[in-house]
Amino acid sequence: MEFMTLIEERHSTRVYEQTPVEQEKLDKILHAANRAPSAGDLQAYSIVVVRSPAARKALARAAVDQQFVGQAPVVLVFLAEPARSSEKYGHRGESLYAIQDATIACAYAQLAAHDLGLAACWVGAFRKREVQEVVGAIEEQVAVALLPIGYAAESPFITPRRALSEMVREV
Ligand SMILES: Cc1cc2nc3c(=O)[nH]c(=O)nc-3n(C[C@H](O)[C@H](O)[C@H](O)COP(=O)(O)O)c2cc1C
Repeated sequence: MEFMTLIEERHSTRVYEQTPVEQEKLDKILHAANRAPSAGDLQAYSIVVVRSPAARKALARAAVDQQFVGQAPVVLVFLAEPARSSEKYGHRGESLYAIQDATIACAYAQLAAHDLGLAACWVGAFRKREVQEVVGAIEEQVAVALLPIGYAAESPFITPRRALSEMVREV
């Protein structure tokens, strides 16, 4: 899909068909995430692919009972790894870059999913420790975002945006 069309048409979807996401498509989504820029190219994050129904249900609970998280056939969990970034960038790497690295990777994955005809929704409301426990995160990993992905079973709500004139200024 043409890039500007993709960003125009992408919207969050919260109802999914039960059709599994093909491994080939998932591989492309993960590849897209891996192409994202990161501070110093350190890629201070990792990604957990969650397909197991029990684990998805547990993620939905951790995401303050947002049931749609468990209904998507696959959920990607993005974990920041602050220690990877702090080695080179100290406090800024630990407190900011690792989170940004994971966030940008998730954004790339979300766009790739849409490009492949899939639907997704960024989920940021969750109990961090609970998510980390579900995916077996190690101590240095911090859950930053969940990305449930599947084939859409709803027409997404078309969200408005603030006017650029409100948000952009020149100096
Ligand atoms: C950091 C972040 C956290 C979000 N957390 C949630 C969430 O917990 N649950 C949810 O349903 N949507 C969540 N969203 C999706 C937003 O609600 C959605 O992107 C926004 O309303 C704009 O709609 P659109 O994605 O359809 O353009 C989150 C999005 C971002 C970027």
